[in-house]
Amino acid sequence: MFVGLFNLFRIALLAYSPLAMGILSGKYFLPDGGPGDARLNIFRGRYSEGESRYNLSNKIIKAATVEYLDIANKFGLHPVSLAIAFVLRHPLVGSVIFGATKSWQLQEILDACKVNLAPELIEEINKVHSKYPNPCP
Ligand SMILES: *[C@@H]1O[C@H](CO)[C@@H](O)[C@H](O)[C@H]1NC(C)=O
Repeated sequence: MFVGLFNLFRIALLAYSPLAMGILSGKYFLPDGGPGDARLNIFRGRYSEGESRYNLSNKIIKAATVEYLDIANKFGLHPVSLAIAFVLRHPLVGSVIFGATKSWQLQEILDACKVNLAPELIEEINKVHSKYPNPCP
């Protein structure tokens, strides 16, 4: 009965901004700073909290982001899949909040739900995390 009650009232965490406002997708590293319709481009100068938190002009934020993108590339994953799959693998996380304006973006997210991250990949993520424990406070 207690197990039943526990399951009935089980609380899961909802991961907020698992793509760090899109910077972990790698799109802002494309030529010309990424797609013109990307959030940080459309609302440039009008999104002060997000722009300062996920500011790729900040050396630490940029370095951490590049290292995570490199890990995705090395293991043949789309960076979106890597970020979403990493967050979802945490046992307390029940779901993630994300924004998708195009169907292929939604597909990336759905694909991420099926990705199994190799222990060597997790080890590399943990190394980057030790180097940059909180790049976007
Ligand atoms: C982003 O970082 C650069 C370099 O540190 C700084 O000059 C700029 O003001 C920051 N932009 C925002 C929106 O915080």
